[in-house]
Amino acid sequence: MKQHHLILSSILWITLLLVVIRPSISIPYACNKQVVDTAKLAFCDTSLSYQDRVKDLVSRLTLQEKVQQFVNKAAGVPRLGLPEYEWWNEALHGVSSNCPGVHFNATVPGATSFPAVILSAASFNDTLWYEIARVASTEGRAMYNVGLSGLTFWSPNINVYRDPRWGRGQETPGEDPFVASKYGVSYVRGLQDIDDRQEGNATINGRLKVSSCCKHYTAYDVENWLGVDRFHFDAKVTLQDLEDTFQPPFKSCVLEGHASSVMCSYNRVNGVPSCADRKLLKGIVREQWNLDGYIVSDCDSVEVYFDRINYTKTPEDAVALALNAGLDLNCGTFLSKHTENAVKQGKVLESQVDRALINNYVVLMRLGYFDGDPTQHPFGKLGPSEICTKDHQELAVEAARQGIVLLDNDGTLPLSPKTTKNLAVIGPSGNATQTMISNYAGVPCGYITPLQGLQKYTSVAFQPGCADVSCNDGSLIDSAAKAASTADAVVVVVGIDQSFEAEERDKVNLTLPGQQEKLVMEVINAATGPVILAVMSGGPIDVSFAKKERKVAAILWVGYPGQSGGEAMAQIIFGDHNPGGRLPFTWYPKEYTEQVPMTDMNMRADSSRNYPGRTYRFYTGPSLYEFGHGLSYTTFSKFVHTAPSSISVPLNPSPYADPHNILTTNTIKSAPNAQAINISKVNCEGLQFNIEVGVKNSGNVDGTDVVLVFWKPPYSDGVTGSPMKQLVGFERVKVEKGKVEFVIFTVDVCKHLSLADKEGMRNLLLGQHKFVIGSPTEHEVRHHLYLRVPEIEREDESLLSGF
Ligand SMILES: *[C@@H]1O[C@H](CO)[C@@H](O)[C@H](O)[C@H]1NC(C)=O
Ligand SMILES: *[C@@H]1O[C@H](CO)[C@@H](O)[C@H](O)[C@H]1NC(C)=O
Ligand SMILES: *[C@@H]1O[C@H](CO)[C@@H](O)[C@H](O)[C@H]1NC(C)=O
Ligand SMILES: *[C@@H]1O[C@H](CO)[C@@H](O)[C@H](O)[C@H]1NC(C)=O
Ligand SMILES: *[C@@H]1O[C@H](CO)[C@@H](O)[C@H](O)[C@H]1NC(C)=O
Ligand SMILES: *[C@@H]1O[C@H](CO)[C@@H](O)[C@H](O)[C@H]1NC(C)=O
Ligand SMILES: *[C@@H]1O[C@H](CO)[C@@H](O)[C@H](O)[C@H]1NC(C)=O
Repeated sequence: MKQHHLILSSILWITLLLVVIRPSISIPYACNKQVVDTAKLAFCDTSLSYQDRVKDLVSRLTLQEKVQQFVNKAAGVPRLGLPEYEWWNEALHGVSSNCPGVHFNATVPGATSFPAVILSAASFNDTLWYEIARVASTEGRAMYNVGLSGLTFWSPNINVYRDPRWGRGQETPGEDPFVASKYGVSYVRGLQDIDDRQEGNATINGRLKVSSCCKHYTAYDVENWLGVDRFHFDAKVTLQDLEDTFQPPFKSCVLEGHASSVMCSYNRVNGVPSCADRKLLKGIVREQWNLDGYIVSDCDSVEVYFDRINYTKTPEDAVALALNAGLDLNCGTFLSKHTENAVKQGKVLESQVDRALINNYVVLMRLGYFDGDPTQHPFGKLGPSEICTKDHQELAVEAARQGIVLLDNDGTLPLSPKTTKNLAVIGPSGNATQTMISNYAGVPCGYITPLQGLQKYTSVAFQPGCADVSCNDGSLIDSAAKAASTADAVVVVVGIDQSFEAEERDKVNLTLPGQQEKLVMEVINAATGPVILAVMSGGPIDVSFAKKERKVAAILWVGYPGQSGGEAMAQIIFGDHNPGGRLPFTWYPKEYTEQVPMTDMNMRADSSRNYPGRTYRFYTGPSLYEFGHGLSYTTFSKFVHTAPSSISVPLNPSPYADPHNILTTNTIKSAPNAQAINISKVNCEGLQFNIEVGVKNSGNVDGTDVVLVFWKPPYSDGVTGSPMKQLVGFERVKVEKGKVEFVIFTVDVCKHLSLADKEGMRNLLLGQHKFVIGSPTEHEVRHHLYLRVPEIEREDESLLSGF
């Protein structure tokens, strides 16, 4: 092409681009001056408060109009210039099209697809979680601006990963309520913050970049296990488990994350469908936690408790129950069909309908939806060029790198590209694409498969060994074994996919499907070089058969590592990245599924019925790998640099002057010497202390450690229902070889060191508390802290021992 042609065509292109990228946005929006006379509509007046604007809007609606608005596909009110709005959008780990609100087309062909949450969780890096959400919200807002998404995203999923069979465990941050809480807060802020995290503010003037939603409230984690499905399941949950396992992520999400929505779940909790539970919704979410946002039902849980479990006689009763319990929005259509009659029959007051609409519309106002021309919105300039940027895609690789867990290594890893001239890549997930992006995914920007990632380092022979993860047919095994026999090293990528674990699909067992074990064994037997096993799954798979084989030099858990997961795997295998991921769940052996019915919600072990309990906090049985396990290519040693050895617990002033009233006994029946104070009697304000931990990299390469601080309550074997240990702090830290870094943990005495009793009330045990720093597979560092109440100590000793 000649020079002037080039210039001409550039001008043409720039003009074209200007026309294409900066059109007046044609997406429908409220308070559009071309549609209505906004000067006459107070709800369009941005100088008024959200409350005043929303009340004005709702006051203009007829009952018939109102009931068409609090369903996911809100009909809108044309006479007021209010377009229809699709509330249901998803952004679990990137913008997802698993919902009616999000679409991809040639304008936005894909969005950045991060690893499944369970793998990002394994990074134990809350900055990363925030960053992923920030990118998802930027891309979501950009898609909104071109009419391909809404602004209300029903993410994150912060249910505790209670049972290793759960089909949706992959969507969650794992089994620990403390990690789930931190994850929820970071993710919610990353989605909602309109400013940088440094501002220390979730929202400024309540404004939202996009709206998030913490789900599924509460005690939801059964999809369909041996015929028990989520619609019919009645979770029998103790008050103790509710208080210290199922509720904490939601509480943090609302109180600290300032989530603008909470979703109630399908299941019942102790007999009551959670979307009909006034105590759980209005009582706790709305009144105790002060949710500034809306409560939405799962799709379509109101209908489900009416027509699948016959919880109410009529649909109107079902609607009334939900609205009176505090539900604001119905995913589905049930409320739009039956609310008018429910009001007419006097089962629910119209004022409850108004309240629900107000809660919903305030969120749309905070998003700028009623502020007129969206191009004038602070985020109105975001467009397709902000989606799948180099930085965003690099963050997807980074997330996988940070999450991947090195489970075992005999020193063979990292491989050297120089000496590994021929690599064999084997296994049904060896060239995985869609499997890597898990569920609630969109269309990724592109893929880098494990094979493609490894090919960047050396020459690779690929043999899938099985046609797919089901691996029903062993006919491909021979050629896989043959490839292994001539390679310097072998990477076998095994595991499962959405056909084994998904929404509405729980696992039945923890074994590799079909002939995958046989494939691995034949490869091991044929291999002349070391075998590296990579497990692609959302949870534990029993690989003990391979773990005991001498030729298996290393085992990696790669989760579902996102669009470029193969790149991250290869960087770790060839040592361009030193792994630092840690397991966010207990890796149970396969026998677990025979011992424990999935439907048993109890967290605590019960030896009287051979029940081993759940998660590292309570599980008494053996595990393949423990929660927090993860190796590095270097070695770290840790030490407690500073930490108090005793803390005085201040009591609330009057009326507890009499020490006889201070101690409670109900929690501690089996520990006669234990002393506990009802937390309500403690002055918790500012009752915190710091533990400063030094981390030394004593190996030969730079590395990343995750410092885990576990608390061991006093009398932990004697106090009824006390966890064996509980994570109270974690921090990911980079340490160069030979260097020491310091990490400071702030422990809140009332929040972190209290125990829930059988009534779900929190008590503080006096006496010696222990802290264990590090994971069980490394050298653990201990610290002791004495909690005392001076007022009690001044009393006669006999008073203390006598209860
Ligand atoms: C993609 O969908 C949006 C919203 O409907 C539309 O405005 C745009 O023209 C579509 N892009 C293409 C290339 O069809
Ligand atoms: C956060 O925002 C609120 C309301 O806009 C403001 O009052 C407060 O000072 C802000 N806090 C910080 C830490 O910036
Ligand atoms: C609900 O009621 C219908 C109609 O009476 C009945 O057929 C169905 O078995 C009931 N379902 C349950 C779960 O009780
Ligand atoms: C690996 O997967 C990619 C992406 O689907 C495909 O283009 C390529 O042909 C596959 N390679 C082999 C060897 O199957
Ligand atoms: C394990 O469960 C899968 C279904 O998820 C099933 O296909 C397989 O046969 C089961 N394996 C064993 C050993 O029971
Ligand atoms: C602890 O205090 C709370 C709030 O005052 C009270 O409801 C509860 O009964 C107390 N528990 C015990 C065991 O004293
Ligand atoms: C945590 O994640 C952020 C964002 O990816 C990254 O910049 C930082 O280095 C990570 N921290 C550590 C210690 O790896």
